[in-house]
Amino acid sequence: MKGLILSGGKGTRLYPLTYTRAKQLIPVANKPVLFRVIEAIRDAGVTEIGIVVGHNGAEIEEAAGDGSRWGVKLTYIPQESPDGLAHAVKISQDFLKDDPFVMFLGDNVIQGGISTLIRDFANHAWNSQIVLKEVADPRAFGVAELAPDGTIKTLIEKPEHPPSNLALVGIYMFDSNIFKAVHAIRPSKRGELEITDAIRWLAENGYVVQPHVHKGWWIDTGKPIDMLEANASVLDELVPEIAASAEISGSDIDKRVTVQDGARIINSVIHGPTIIGEGCVIENSYIGPYTSIYHHTNVRNCEIQRSIVLEHSDISDLPSRLYGSLIGRKVSLTRRDLKPQALTMNLGDHSSVQLV
Ligand code: TTP
Repeated sequence: MKGLILSGGKGTRLYPLTYTRAKQLIPVANKPVLFRVIEAIRDAGVTEIGIVVGHNGAEIEEAAGDGSRWGVKLTYIPQESPDGLAHAVKISQDFLKDDPFVMFLGDNVIQGGISTLIRDFANHAWNSQIVLKEVADPRAFGVAELAPDGTIKTLIEKPEHPPSNLALVGIYMFDSNIFKAVHAIRPSKRGELEITDAIRWLAENGYVVQPHVHKGWWIDTGKPIDMLEANASVLDELVPEIAASAEISGSDIDKRVTVQDGARIINSVIHGPTIIGEGCVIENSYIGPYTSIYHHTNVRNCEIQRSIVLEHSDISDLPSRLYGSLIGRKVSLTRRDLKPQALTMNLGDHSSVQLV
């Protein structure tokens, strides 16, 4: 069994953060989503993993390296343009050869790992196993309708009128028959080779596609709100730990807080689940719950709740609590004391700010 992680794409829904960083490298609970995906595959016993990369391939390769730190072997597969998930499979044929494989979207986070799924697939003569999840509004996803015997009746990409509320989760298992499918299908209206069409081709041509309905949470971190949701869900399950090298003085830190190496927390209140990264300084502030402050960021005289702040940022003296926010790297956010009393902003393209 091999692994295939899809880490190309454009990430337009996460602009401006994804202008300068691959979306799969944005951390949830202070660990890039891609690293969580690699760990989930490794924990299921799969150690030969291909990563499909697009325009920010060099950045991804620099971050994940050869995989030895996780005990896996990573092979990078360049995709010239993001022509769809089935296109990513197509260009990975030389790497995958005739081996069965698990494909995992590099921006997805799932509760409970994938060991059981991989075991079930290995123990059955299925050609594919797909994972489904009941969602409130399935229109943005591939959607499956099941027949009364549990087999797949319909599969359709982003339907206007969904036949069910079962969305296709970004984890799929295939044997080498998937290559027949990805060569047979044609691009969709949006110009992509859709994996949903390839799976439907398998089902319609007599191959066994086994659905599995996932009961835990699953989050596709495509939009800022999904990032915050994934961050909250992962923080909820994080085993809290205070690093021995962290310095905490005059502060009230509850049980569900993780403080990483060398962080300093001074005269502050931290409510978990929350994680404070390596080398951060938090002073006279309130942080949490559901907040991740990535490494070497300083927060002074502020309140921050249900947010992600990336590395090397400085946030100080804000007049209101920061809530539901996604803040990039090396961002400076502070109060202006000079005259005139005004908002002074230097925002990148596609930034969004809401003031109270
Ligand atoms: P998407 O979220 O569907 O696409 P995107 O990353 O381009 O984002 P946006 O819609 O905001 O512009 O992609 C899901 C995952 O699959 C993501 O990790 C990127 C990856 N991917 C590829 O590797 N190749 C592709 O051709 C496509 C479309 C996506």
